[in-house]
Amino acid sequence: MKSSNFLKENNARSLWHPMAHPADSQKNPPTIVTGASGVRITDVDGHDVVDGVGGLWNVNLGFSCDPIKKAIADQLERLPYYSIFRGTTNDCVIELSEELRTFFEPDGLTRAFYTSGGSDSVETALRLARQYHKIKGEPGRTKYLSLKKGYHGTHFGGASVNGNANFRTAYEPLMAGCFHIPAPYTYRNPFNETDPERLAQLCLQAMEDEIAFQGAGTIAAMIMEPILGAGGVIPPHPSFMPGVRDICTRHGILLIADEVITAFGRSGSWTGSRHWGVQPDLMSTAKAITNGYFPFGALMIAEHVAQVFEKDETGKAAIGHGYTYSGHPVGAAAALACLEETKRLKVNENAAARGAELFGGLQALAEKYDVIGDVRGGHGLMCALELVSDRTTKSSIDKPRISKVQEVTYEAGAMVRVSGPNIILSPPLVLTSDDVQVILTALDKGFASL
Ligand SMILES: Cc1ncc(COP(=O)(O)O)c(C=O)c1O
Repeated sequence: MKSSNFLKENNARSLWHPMAHPADSQKNPPTIVTGASGVRITDVDGHDVVDGVGGLWNVNLGFSCDPIKKAIADQLERLPYYSIFRGTTNDCVIELSEELRTFFEPDGLTRAFYTSGGSDSVETALRLARQYHKIKGEPGRTKYLSLKKGYHGTHFGGASVNGNANFRTAYEPLMAGCFHIPAPYTYRNPFNETDPERLAQLCLQAMEDEIAFQGAGTIAAMIMEPILGAGGVIPPHPSFMPGVRDICTRHGILLIADEVITAFGRSGSWTGSRHWGVQPDLMSTAKAITNGYFPFGALMIAEHVAQVFEKDETGKAAIGHGYTYSGHPVGAAAALACLEETKRLKVNENAAARGAELFGGLQALAEKYDVIGDVRGGHGLMCALELVSDRTTKSSIDKPRISKVQEVTYEAGAMVRVSGPNIILSPPLVLTSDDVQVILTALDKGFASL
C-alpha cells in the first residue's frame, strides 16, 4: 500500500466519486478505508469502527466470509471468464440457477437472467416487461408506474422510474411514459395522512386513478421496492404491496419487485415480497447475492412469465439484451458460496432480532433529541432517522449539522450513512447485540455534539 501521506494528498484528486459533488469531495476528502474484518472497517488513520452501512446494503455476511473469498480465488484459477451469450455457458452458472430456483420457489420465481449489478437488473426487468407484452400481442403496453421516493439505480430506465429529483433533474429529459404514484410515507405525503393503513389505501386509489387516466392497456409494469430503501427506509403498511399486486393483476400490468437491497434476508424475511405475502412477476436482485465481493446480479422471472417467452414460436421472444459479464463464472461461484452461507447462518432471523433492537434504540434516541423528526424501521436491519430543524414545522436541517452528527458518530465508533435529511442504517446481517449497542452509543454521542 502507498504511504498514508500519498493517499491523503491524492484523495479525490484524480477521480470523481459517485453521488457526490467533485469539488465537495476535494474540500471534504472521503474517509480512506483500508481494511475490514467481521462487521468492522479500518481507515488509513487506524480508526476501527462498526460498519452501520454494511458496505452499501450489500455486505450482509460481513467482511470475513472465507467460503466466498475461497470460491472466488478457486474460480479465478479454474475459469476466470467466459461469456454466456448464445452458444456457450459455464458450470457455475448452471448450478447457481438451480440453487436460485429453489431459494425463490416460494416467490414463484423460476428463471434467472444474470447482470453485473442492481441497475442492470432493473434495466433488464423494464425491458423484458415490454417484450412480454409484445410477445402476448399487446405492443401498446409500454409505460411504467413507480413510487415517488423509490430508488431504482441510475441507468436511464431506472432513473426514469426513480422517485427522487436528486437522481433525475441533472439528467433530464428522461424516458417518456413513466408515471409516479405517491409513496406510503406517513411522515410527509400529499394527503396529510399519518395513519399508515389509511395512507396505503389513498396511495392505492391514486394508483388506480393514474391507471384509469393512462389507460391500463398502455402500461407494461409497475416497479416498487417492498420497503423503500435509499429513499429513506419507508416501510409501507402490510396492506400496501398486496394491494398493488391486486391492482396489477386486475389490469394485466406486470409487478416488478425491486429487491436489490431486500432480497436475501435484510427485511427479516428471505425476500421483501415474501415479507408482505406477495408473489411478483419479476424481481431484480444484486448486492447481497455475492455479499458485495463481486459485482453481480440476477433478475428473477416468474414461471408464468417464463412460459410466455419459452412457448413463443414467432421469434419475438429472442432476447436482444445482455451484458458481457452476465453469468460471469467468478460471480456465479461467489453467489453459490454466498447463498450457502446466507442460508446456513439464517441471517434473516438475526436481521429480524437485531433489527428490533436497533429500531427500539433509535426510538429511545428520538425521545432524547428533538432534531430527530421521524424514526423508521421495524422490519429487519434497515432503519432511518429523518432529521429536522423544527419538529412542528418539519423544516429541513442544515447540511453541516447532519455532517457533524455523522463525523462525531464515526469518531465514537460507528460508520453511518447520510442521504439528504436521513441517517440510514443498513449494517451487516451478522451483527451482534453488542454491535447494535456500539452503533446506538456512537449515535448518541453524535447527537449530543449538536
Ligand atoms: C432498490 C435498488 N434498486 C437498484 C439499485 C441500483 O443498484 P446498483 O447500484 O448495484 O446499480 C439500488 C442500489 O442501491 C437499489 O437500492
